[in-house]
Amino acid sequence: MNISVMVSGGGTNLQALIDRVADGSIPDARIALVLSSRDGVYSLERARKASIKTVVISKKDYPDEEAKTDAILAALAEEGTDLVVMAGYMIIVSPRIPRAYAGRIINIHPALLPRHGGPGYYGLHVHEAVLAAGDTESGATVHYVDDRGVDSGEIILQGRVPVLDGDTPEILQQRVLTVEHRILPEATALVLQKL
Ligand code: GAR
Repeated sequence: MNISVMVSGGGTNLQALIDRVADGSIPDARIALVLSSRDGVYSLERARKASIKTVVISKKDYPDEEAKTDAILAALAEEGTDLVVMAGYMIIVSPRIPRAYAGRIINIHPALLPRHGGPGYYGLHVHEAVLAAGDTESGATVHYVDDRGVDSGEIILQGRVPVLDGDTPEILQQRVLTVEHRILPEATALVLQKL
């Protein structure tokens, strides 16, 4: 099975996927492509170290959203992508992408959906919202990406962490990331099993 991973940043979730493919926890799979929305991010370095093909598709290189979406779909198709994993991809994709990969595209979100999801809820903003709401618990969610909205697709797996006194968004983010690194590879293996 060919997995393509979409990223925008440092790629600690990408690294967890690379490691779990390498140790056989995600069986019968290879990461065929790492597609980044930005150049110069550490995810691309992680991919190169693991000899995984990379491509950067950023908004500034395309006249409009349609052309950018065409490029993303072409890059995914070229690698014979069976499953798309969005692992810290910070851009809302055109609904054409989940339509092309219905049931074969998943995303990790750093909160317990349906809380703190949707447009504007990404990265540290999510953890700021959790603290502002006074939640005593947070976590991460792996869900299917659908064409109806942002962070709206069916939930596959969740993992929970406590919110502790004195947490800052950065501290909470690190605690949630430890759960992400466990559940994203688990969910990837689960989804692949069903394909
Ligand atoms: C992760 O916390 C991921 O859940 C979040 O960005 C971080 C990326 O970290 N994704 C979103 O907020 C998407 N809405 P990483 O680059 O180290 O994997």
